[in-house]
Amino acid sequence: MIPESFIERLKDASDIEETISSYVPLKRFGRLLKGLCPFHSEKTPSFTVYTDGQQHFYCFGCQKGGDVITFIREIENLEYVEAVRLLAQRAGLPMPEDAADDGTSRLKARVLELNRTAARFFHQCLIDERGKDARVYLAGRGLSRRTVRNFGLGFAPDSWDALTGHLASKGFTQEEMLAAAVASQGRRGIYDQFRGRVIFPILDLRGNVVGFGGRAMSDRGPKYLNSGDTPVFKKSRHLYALNFAKDDGPDKLLLAEGYMDVIALHQAGFTNAVATLGTALTADQARLISQYAKSVAIAYDSYGAGQNAARRAINLFSQLEVQVSVLDIQGAKDPDDYIKAFGAHRFQNLIDSGKSALSFEIDKLKSARDMETPEGKTAFLNDFCRLMATISSDIQRDVYLSEIARELEVDKERLKTTTEAIRKKRAGTAKRRQAHNLKPFVQDNPAGKSPMVKPEELGSAVAERSLIAMLMQNPDYYDDIPSKLTDEDFVSSDHAAIFRAICAQLEHHRIPDPIYLSAYLSTAQMGILSQMLATGKEVAYKREQLDEFIQAIKQKPTSREEMAQLSPQEAYQRALESRKRRSST
Ligand code: UTP
Ligand code: MN
Repeated sequence: MIPESFIERLKDASDIEETISSYVPLKRFGRLLKGLCPFHSEKTPSFTVYTDGQQHFYCFGCQKGGDVITFIREIENLEYVEAVRLLAQRAGLPMPEDAADDGTSRLKARVLELNRTAARFFHQCLIDERGKDARVYLAGRGLSRRTVRNFGLGFAPDSWDALTGHLASKGFTQEEMLAAAVASQGRRGIYDQFRGRVIFPILDLRGNVVGFGGRAMSDRGPKYLNSGDTPVFKKSRHLYALNFAKDDGPDKLLLAEGYMDVIALHQAGFTNAVATLGTALTADQARLISQYAKSVAIAYDSYGAGQNAARRAINLFSQLEVQVSVLDIQGAKDPDDYIKAFGAHRFQNLIDSGKSALSFEIDKLKSARDMETPEGKTAFLNDFCRLMATISSDIQRDVYLSEIARELEVDKERLKTTTEAIRKKRAGTAKRRQAHNLKPFVQDNPAGKSPMVKPEELGSAVAERSLIAMLMQNPDYYDDIPSKLTDEDFVSSDHAAIFRAICAQLEHHRIPDPIYLSAYLSTAQMGILSQMLATGKEVAYKREQLDEFIQAIKQKPTSREEMAQLSPQEAYQRALESRKRRSST
């Protein structure tokens, strides 16, 4: 644990405004600063930095928040200690000794070093006599020597101990090799994970080697093997070749399915191509793309699985402000084959004539029905209206309604009425859901004791938040608390953790500043705390309210159905009233 005296010095040396403005342009509005959130894409700023009193940041759009250390953790993707170290380095403060002892960050550094050594070894194997077949293979796939070098491609000899032996000679331990996932544990010791394969090193945005993909050169075994997750690698958060693609500051990224597609695309001049790493696109990867480009062209395989994956990707992008188009790769299996068969020029045409995501969806709906029969047509039109009902732009809706009406020779007004009816119905449902939407109020840690607060517990959850906000504002109210309330009374495990951390500070007569709490809380919990601070700023809590909050936290609710109808504020009010009723009788 890093001593709080050190955090205190770090706090004075790392001004939150200065630190955050080096990543995000901020504008001052009175006592606060605002900017475009670096953690989600937005057009109007909801990212707020509070510089007076308890310094923290909070984004009203994506609910991320916390102190300056949490900010560094989030933006640099670092563990707590690593974030402290980075800030300390920038401020020229030497880290206290015992903190340097932190096991995980040391292991991470070792794994990165090991990966770099392994990548060099694989590359050497490819270019010397061991790599003859692999060189022939890669040349057969049309890769130039320059491309091979640029991507740092390599070859893993068909041996159980070529890499592990080499790494051992360089001083790496078996534990480190297992942690880096380049070795597996067998009954008689560890052995090389990649054997007889072409190797694709995976680089992160800072140029670290974080993992490997390996392609078989024959039909033996799985075609591709990918590193599993390691302390430095989460495949759901990385994109292959984004380290190169981002350099052009592209407007548009090309999203492909595999290593070979990306490499072939780059070699053909499409240096804005990236790929997922053996899994379907994840929400994290979609967000990553949205941070680098305004639009994305999906260049997936032209057959079934690729097309379903494209659809999934479209759904993910539709929640971000990213324009999506889908390439219609006909006459070839994937972009790699297409470029080989028809050349880069024709591929550029494909990009230029990419279908919008919506046309892609409509075509999918059509191909699912037999458009030759009246039944098939009717079923399609119903699907189509449901799809149209999800579009918020009136103009866009109108354009597509006209087009399909014309194409299928049906009455446009009919389609419009049907679509509007679906929209109305959905709006009603959305409103009811919103009335007791718990998300902004209770974002619970799935590993915590209560994964989600039930609707009938909402009154308590709101009271928990109020109590915490009140304590942050008025630490002197704490005296009454220990005898009346413990963290066991909390319905939300995140709130309980925040409460515990604050109480620990107050026990030591410290003002519970966010920067001291961040040593004990997850980044998600810091976000929740920041939300309470940001929204509680305007509220002046009175001491009398303390008992109300405590009672509401302890109350066990009555009717779930009844509570479910209420807005969070109403639910809270109701909880207070029922408490009062019960205590007065
Ligand atoms: P594909 O099977 O479409 O292969 O897998 P490809 O990209 O065309 O590869 P080549 O051209 O035959 O060499 C696409 C991606 O799916 C993952 C890999 O990331 C691959 O790049 N994959 C595929 C696996 O992880 N394991 C497999 O066994 C196959
Ligand atoms: Mn291919």
